[in-house]
Amino acid sequence: MRYQAREVDIEGRVRLVMEGALTARDRVGVQDFVLLENYNSEAAFIENLRRRFRENLIYTYIGSVLVSMNPYKELEIYSKQQMDRYRGVSFYEISPHIYALSDNTYRAMRTERKDQCILISGESGAGKTEASKKILLYYAVTCPTNDHMAALGDRLLQSNPVLEAFGNAKTLRNDNSSRFGKYMDVQFDFRGAPVGGHILNYLLEKSRVVHQNHGERNFHIFYQLLDGGEDDQLNTLNLERNPQNYRYLVKGNCPRVSSISDKNNWKVVMKALPVIGFTEEEVQKLLNIIASVLHLGNTQFGEGEEGETYITTEISNLARLLGVDGSALREALTHKKLTAKGEEMITPLNFEQAEAARDALAKAVYGRTFTWLVEKINQSLALKVHSKGSSVIGLLDIYGFEVLQHNSFEQFCINYCNEKLQQLFIELTLRSEQEEYETEGIAWETVQYFDNKIICDLIEEKHKGIISILDEECLRPGETCDVSFLEKLEDTVGGHPHFVTHKLANGKTRRVMSREEFRLLHYAGEVNYNVNGFLDKNNDLLNRNLKEVMCQSDNQILSHCFRREEVIDQKRPEMAATQFKNSLMKLTEILRSKEPSYVRCIKPNDAKQPGRFDEVLVRHQVKYLGLMENLRVRRAGFAYRRRFEAFLQRYKPLCPETWPNWHGRLADGVLTLVKHLGYKDEEYKLGRSKIFIRFPKTLFNTEDALEAKKPEIALTLQTSWRGYRERAKYQRIRRFLVLCFAKYNNFHHDFCIFFPRFIKGFIYRHGEYGPENDYFLDHVRYSFLKNLRKNLPKSVLDKSWPTPPPSLDEASEHLQRLHMRNMVTKYCWRVQPEWKKQMMQKVVASEIFKDQKDSYPQSVGKLFLDSRLGTQREQISLKVVQTLGNDKYGVSVIKYDKRGFKPRPRQLLLTNTFAVLVDKTKIKQRIDYTALRDIALSSLSDGMCVLHITREDNKQKGDLLLHCSHSIELVTKLAMMANKTSNVNINPGSIQFTVARGKEGIIDFVRGAELKVTKGRRGHLLVVSQRLL
Ligand SMILES: Nc1ncnc2c1ncn2[C@@H]1O[C@H](COP(=O)(O)OP(=O)(O)OP(=O)(O)O)[C@@H](O)[C@H]1O
Ligand SMILES: [Mg+2]
Repeated sequence: MRYQAREVDIEGRVRLVMEGALTARDRVGVQDFVLLENYNSEAAFIENLRRRFRENLIYTYIGSVLVSMNPYKELEIYSKQQMDRYRGVSFYEISPHIYALSDNTYRAMRTERKDQCILISGESGAGKTEASKKILLYYAVTCPTNDHMAALGDRLLQSNPVLEAFGNAKTLRNDNSSRFGKYMDVQFDFRGAPVGGHILNYLLEKSRVVHQNHGERNFHIFYQLLDGGEDDQLNTLNLERNPQNYRYLVKGNCPRVSSISDKNNWKVVMKALPVIGFTEEEVQKLLNIIASVLHLGNTQFGEGEEGETYITTEISNLARLLGVDGSALREALTHKKLTAKGEEMITPLNFEQAEAARDALAKAVYGRTFTWLVEKINQSLALKVHSKGSSVIGLLDIYGFEVLQHNSFEQFCINYCNEKLQQLFIELTLRSEQEEYETEGIAWETVQYFDNKIICDLIEEKHKGIISILDEECLRPGETCDVSFLEKLEDTVGGHPHFVTHKLANGKTRRVMSREEFRLLHYAGEVNYNVNGFLDKNNDLLNRNLKEVMCQSDNQILSHCFRREEVIDQKRPEMAATQFKNSLMKLTEILRSKEPSYVRCIKPNDAKQPGRFDEVLVRHQVKYLGLMENLRVRRAGFAYRRRFEAFLQRYKPLCPETWPNWHGRLADGVLTLVKHLGYKDEEYKLGRSKIFIRFPKTLFNTEDALEAKKPEIALTLQTSWRGYRERAKYQRIRRFLVLCFAKYNNFHHDFCIFFPRFIKGFIYRHGEYGPENDYFLDHVRYSFLKNLRKNLPKSVLDKSWPTPPPSLDEASEHLQRLHMRNMVTKYCWRVQPEWKKQMMQKVVASEIFKDQKDSYPQSVGKLFLDSRLGTQREQISLKVVQTLGNDKYGVSVIKYDKRGFKPRPRQLLLTNTFAVLVDKTKIKQRIDYTALRDIALSSLSDGMCVLHITREDNKQKGDLLLHCSHSIELVTKLAMMANKTSNVNINPGSIQFTVARGKEGIIDFVRGAELKVTKGRRGHLLVVSQRLL
């Protein structure tokens, strides 16, 4: 049966499972949460997760969102065979999987030609990084490649262990916790082969370099080097094997982790570095830096009798590894250089200050080296040859919401990041739902949801938000400290409903808060942040004289990381939180410009144990991942939706009129089917290409009916199969006998009957059909038809057709028409919606422009795109984008002033009901389609078009003179959206427009050598259009 498949379970037994999303529901809950009868019940949601988890079914959908449970054990579901199973298969036809999501995203990128992104979220240890690796592997294995690309796939995969060695660490919650955020773009060429990659990294947790909580470790690379490095290597770096000898590695008292083999991982990293383009020299310089951080940690200070600080340990090795002068380093670690009133002063540091300066240097060296490493990987992944028509899939693996016992600046940034992503998630999910309803022509029902903008504003608002207050406190002259920052917060945002401090709290909350904490009520839950260290971490200051020493380093990596300009430039760099905020803004813009898919990861327990389902922990994650909210949005009106063809294909056996095949329109087939099944009107709606079913129950009943029908279908199939087999057998025997008989008779027949009749027929071939020529003419006809059968055109574009004998002229014409119609019908069935849209637009363009405009023939072969703005789209201000909601098309234009004809570069964006002219940050003009009278163009090839606006509407600014390099595409889309296809006027010589009430202007068009737009005689605008060869 089609819906059965073999699957190997974790004990290695082969079992048969039903893969149909619905038939599996009884055994292991529902594969898609939208099919939960009680979709408002959190308990039902969690129960479904638990039932599936118990069966090692770690993936479940909420519509197109994939929920993934961390199994904490290796499952045999990631093999090459599994990848093959998911290739090109529809999302819903097969059990949920990360490969299904990867494949769907890839196919959407290819067919819709739109950039995609996959957002992976979840708390620490939930499986985000594992998921992102699985997606990358899927693309590396299944996408087409050539030699260069095979190498790229390798580099993409090899960049992971390197980044993990430097950016991951063992924490209490995850033995391989990513301590930085990562967004990775994979670029694909027009054939769908990966051709490039780019990584953006976010906020590495630098404090870990100098301090780790109990039970945690520093970044993996330190332990890998000590455990895996060769003896010679360690000697050169003056290192000893035992991590306990290094102060920066002992804070967490956890040198070894049973689940990690530092030695093996070291080998993997060393193998990966050359693959991603590191030279031997660069590897050596990198090792020097890692070792120098360890030596820095062991640098100790003493206090002299007069309170001066001096270094008590040997630093020559440290200086050698850093590639700097020893005495300059010694001086810079114990003194501070200040510039006051233009004069430089050197003041000694006290003991604590010297220790802080040392730690700041270690953090800066490590942090900047990490950024360099990412840059280096990016160079290796960069697109080598510019590939036309390339598209992108972005992967976001970023730290999840974090609530520790003591939460500091890092948790504040991480949770702020999650707050932003949640905002984007809700916005985009709602948007795509609304869009789907709109495309399908189904009324949208408003959904209530919690908008966390209020919390984002509390954190990020200019001048008033927590980040601004923190910056201000760092920059303010006079005595500032973490506590003064807290007081400032109380003064400024004290009344905010999502902000509490010890002083502002009621008695109950006060008991669980210290005086140095502030509490934020995040969408995901409450978190207390201790303000200690906020100012220092936000300042992220490194003494100037330390920077001076470092920028003279002869280690090229370090001299690249510490630039001279930084020391010369007196301007203060942006504070850490503001930098983070700005990078997040950019990230949300990037994500907003792409079509998103989501993986929401959940960890089943905190003990990293397989098979344990901690309900409290899971419930908490379900809550803060907003999954119930997501489900409610998805179930806003209808529980289930499916394309007509998929629905009909599955359920057609339930209705005699649709079984075995329905030959009419798909929508009619679906309607006939549901009417036969007795669906009530309120139970379903038919969209343009999908059926929407309101209640899961309706669907389950249909599914049950199908189950019941299956034996009958099987019987029918068996009977017809037997009949077919017997008939085929009979035909074979008959053919054989006829052949024997014919062979026997051939000789006699040919000589005595066939030849005379044939020759006579040839002689009388032009006469009326009769006994003289019937044999010949029949033979000719038969030969033609036989030949035709073999040589039928294979595509609608193939216009060849065998020449018929005169007697078959009419029949041949008829057949040709029938065949063409048949091919067209088949073609239409296969057409993807995106392609259909493209063709509809092309047909409209042809109706408007064919034989009317010189530039039309050149536009025919070029695809119409959804946006021509490319990276410019990202520059359009966020505010503008938010005001517009969903723009359907964007293109760069030159707008000419009606007086004076000054050219002004602008972006024209089209929405469903109006168009806007945008100047990156501002909306300059809005044109309601109802006010658009007509669109005028010349018949030449010049790219000019004039939008004539009705004068009745006072809100409109009047006619628009535009030049656009994609004028055919723009006008076609605009005319279709505004429903003005019959109002496009093509004028041969000139176009009039209104300058102001009562005053007219004119554009004259002439042909010339090259395109030129100038002011002509009599104050007209003269457009010289390019003469086409
Ligand atoms: N699909 C999976 N199959 C098997 N084990 C998994 C899977 N996903 C996660 N794990 C296990 O869980 C551990 C933690 O996963 P991962 O490192 O991906 O978490 P994370 O969400 O990236 O956490 P962090 O935010 O701390 O980086 C992995 O090291 C692995 O042991
Ligand atoms: Mg991770």
